[in-house]
Amino acid sequence: APGAARLPASTTTTSTSAGDAPSPALQLDPQAGQRIHVDLGDGRRLAVRAWVGLPTVARPLEADHQQLNLYIPEAYLRGERIGRHTARSAPIFLPNQVGGYMPARPGTPEGRGMGPPPAASAASAASAASAAQMAQGAQGARTAPAVAGGASGPVGTVAAAGPAGGAPSSAPSTIAQALARGYVVAAPGARGRTLRTADGRWSGKAPAAIVDLKAAVRWLHHNADRLPAGDVERIVSNGTSAGGALSALLGASGNGADYTAELDAVGAAPGRDDIWAVSAYCPITALGLADGAHEWQFNAVHDYRRIEMSMLDYRMQRTEVPGTLTPLQIALSDALKAGFPAQVNALGLTDATGRALRLEADGRGSLRDHVQGLLVASAQDALDRGQALGERGWLQLQGGRVVAADFDAYARAVGRMKTVPAFDGVALDTGENQLFGDATTDRRHFTDFSLAHSQGDAAGTAGRAPDLTVRQMDALRQLADGRNRVAPHWRIRHGTADRDTGLAVPALLAAAVRPRARSVDLALPWDRPHSGDYDLPALFDWIDERLD
Ligand code: DHB
Repeated sequence: APGAARLPASTTTTSTSAGDAPSPALQLDPQAGQRIHVDLGDGRRLAVRAWVGLPTVARPLEADHQQLNLYIPEAYLRGERIGRHTARSAPIFLPNQVGGYMPARPGTPEGRGMGPPPAASAASAASAASAAQMAQGAQGARTAPAVAGGASGPVGTVAAAGPAGGAPSSAPSTIAQALARGYVVAAPGARGRTLRTADGRWSGKAPAAIVDLKAAVRWLHHNADRLPAGDVERIVSNGTSAGGALSALLGASGNGADYTAELDAVGAAPGRDDIWAVSAYCPITALGLADGAHEWQFNAVHDYRRIEMSMLDYRMQRTEVPGTLTPLQIALSDALKAGFPAQVNALGLTDATGRALRLEADGRGSLRDHVQGLLVASAQDALDRGQALGERGWLQLQGGRVVAADFDAYARAVGRMKTVPAFDGVALDTGENQLFGDATTDRRHFTDFSLAHSQGDAAGTAGRAPDLTVRQMDALRQLADGRNRVAPHWRIRHGTADRDTGLAVPALLAAAVRPRARSVDLALPWDRPHSGDYDLPALFDWIDERLD
């Protein structure tokens, strides 16, 4: 078979020298793949060669998560093409399954690595929601089911913010669609914030998840000559929410010096971990300034519909608890909002035309104009596609065109979901606090602001995560490191109905990428709630257009 021509003469896995020689276990055995058939949902089945549970590190702490699944369309093993792709040229799609910075198993063509499948019907989603309420005990009585469509939807409806944005459960998975498109798929697992080893030590705190994803990329480069198909110079990372943040982080931190010690410690393959393209849906990144970005947007909105912390993962049922900010929270919001312009201005970023993105002390300025422009573009795009915009007091139309958006009115309309601070909780009560623990500490602060305002038992004892750890998790910080190899192509999406982080976050991320990348495609899809993979044909077209 032509595909086999690329295989080395010997596929034995004997390493010759001791010391830093990579573990034989990190070498792909090209003959060990299993033949499977992937259901494409329309009656078609795709023949695929699958290698499941390949270890990506020699010294795993959590072997079930530090591994990847590899899928190669069998057409390539017969020397055939799929569309424009061949065995040699096929991009390698690298979808991570991380949500909520929780642990993730490698994805499969049948569905996601963790979490429930998308709800088949409102009824099954509703029963899942009530089970979640029961699990929350007394709090359940106060909870209202999540409204995935945003705060403007009718209370009492439930929709799963699943991988296909609420598509029927027969829809093929992201991995199945990528394979059908002719991509090789390498689906990595990753450790997450709740894992602990048998001796009780926390094993998935920052930077574990990004270390594991980098180890998977290194594994691909390391096995470049053993892969029956797939171009390791065309690795496309994909993820949503926390997974979108990690996807962006992979693209921002290629071969970064900040990660060498941890990669060595887990026994990652030596070599490169840079990638070619980033797809990031609603990345929960820029955690060093995300609290400020959130209050810059939502400061005037005091009523909230909070998502239960255990529900942060965008694929889980998102159960909302309504409430109103306390006077202390309002004071914290005022302080965070007041501090945000200095954080933005220190970045020294510009828009695509070279105009500086800045904020005045009162929160107005070119960054706000820029974000308003992104909202206008989103609404105009929806109009152009024939969608009805509905009742949107924050939008101004003239002669059938969208001409202006009012950021403050938008924030009031979309509604506040998070309390204050949104990410580094003063009571150490957010998922991000748990992400920034260490082997012996479950939760820590990661900003000076919240450390200074810390409350409760942990105040002053848990302290804050070291700056290196914070930097290791933040794409914005990594983009400021001139030594990193930044992915040349980026596609960032954040829906206009998504309140999980402020709109400044994707805007600043794109602006920080632009000087270091060949192409950056940022859009705010109209009315999309917190979700991802809802436009895969467009994503795949974008990838293919960049290949030439
Ligand atoms: C996710 C959502 C959040 O609101 C957050 O703070 C972190 C992660 C998620 O869905 O992955």
